[in-house]
Amino acid sequence: MWLLLSWSSVELLSLASMDPRSISISVKNKLCHVNYIDERLYINNSTDLKIIYFVTPTYPRPEQVPELTRLAHTLMHVPRLHWIVADDQPICSEEVSNILRRTGLPYTHISSPKPFIYKGTNFPRGVANRRAALTWLQENVNDGVLYFGDDDNTVDLQLFDEIRLTKKVSMFPVGLIGDYGVSSPVVKEGKVVGFFDSWPGSRLFAVDMAGFAVNIEFLKPSANMPYIAGHEEDRFLVSLGLKMEDIEPLAANCSKILVWHTKTVKYKKPTLRLDIKKIDSVAAYKNFASLLKETNRLGMASISENNGTKPFLTRNRKSFETITGLK
Ligand SMILES: *[C@@H]1O[C@H](CO)[C@@H](O)[C@H](O)[C@H]1NC(C)=O
Ligand SMILES: *[C@@H]1O[C@H](CO)[C@@H](O)[C@H](O)[C@H]1NC(C)=O
Ligand SMILES: *[C@@H]1O[C@H](CO)[C@@H](O)[C@H](O)[C@H]1NC(C)=O
Ligand SMILES: *[C@@H]1O[C@H](CO)[C@@H](O)[C@H](O)[C@H]1NC(C)=O
Repeated sequence: MWLLLSWSSVELLSLASMDPRSISISVKNKLCHVNYIDERLYINNSTDLKIIYFVTPTYPRPEQVPELTRLAHTLMHVPRLHWIVADDQPICSEEVSNILRRTGLPYTHISSPKPFIYKGTNFPRGVANRRAALTWLQENVNDGVLYFGDDDNTVDLQLFDEIRLTKKVSMFPVGLIGDYGVSSPVVKEGKVVGFFDSWPGSRLFAVDMAGFAVNIEFLKPSANMPYIAGHEEDRFLVSLGLKMEDIEPLAANCSKILVWHTKTVKYKKPTLRLDIKKIDSVAAYKNFASLLKETNRLGMASISENNGTKPFLTRNRKSFETITGLK
């Protein structure tokens, strides 16, 4: 089933936390594709298991395809999982949809470009994407467990078994966060009594986005995530009416780490100074020309006739400026 719908709406944006003034901003989300069929023959497909809705905000950059590929290979091991990928670009990316299709997973692909006013400013990354995913969930799903997993996180498969049983909101430690190396609830006699996170930020729930899961039945219509950097998690959990005593600590009473906030070093996209048409015209080197075009298409390098690094080819320890040297 292929769907291509646009759902534009006007969202209210609070200018500041306590400020009653708000301005309206318009968002333009597009539902690229929804697949409800789990095509994986090697996985337990028992309907006794609640579906995990794994929400991944993503954005185009040289690392996007490799990060999504790696995450896909984790999620493919997880039974009864529906992957919601919300991409911060105005088009339904062919690269992203290829990755999703090949997983065999049920999935929802959304194009959710961030609102114009956040272009170029210090915008809270991922909020427009997560809001779009929440809207889709609220309109289409009544049952299951919601988890926000970024495209660069590392997740132990054990975490999925644990969050699947979330009754309201479960929480657990996240490794590689801030100045303490970890962000976690502090558990006393099986109950969450506080938080260990190097940035308290006067938050009620000082947790990372990857540090909690929510039962979708607990996802109130009032559920919302503000465009306020650093406060997205806290405000979202507050909007659910969550109380400290409701929190279900996982990962052995928050003593184990099952998810990490890994980051890939940002890659500075190089410009290659070469004449792609000329290389493409040499029939014997069509494959090499295709590789260069693929590298450019995936955003890993630009190709220019006049600017950039002049690349060399080597053979027998010698360097050549053009493929003719390889002959
Ligand atoms: C898994 O179960 C779903 C719903 O029960 C069904 O639509 C799907 O075809 C099943 N997949 C496989 C591979 O059996
Ligand atoms: C599949 O999951 C169900 C529900 O948890 C469980 O009862 C069943 O034993 C599992 N089947 C296999 C083959 O693991
Ligand atoms: C968590 O702590 C409670 C209270 O001490 C205990 O009953 C429970 O078994 C612990 N859970 C795990 C998974 O260790
Ligand atoms: C690349 O080359 C073109 C034409 O020679 C020039 O106009 C342009 O400014 C250059 N761009 C950069 C980024 O150097």
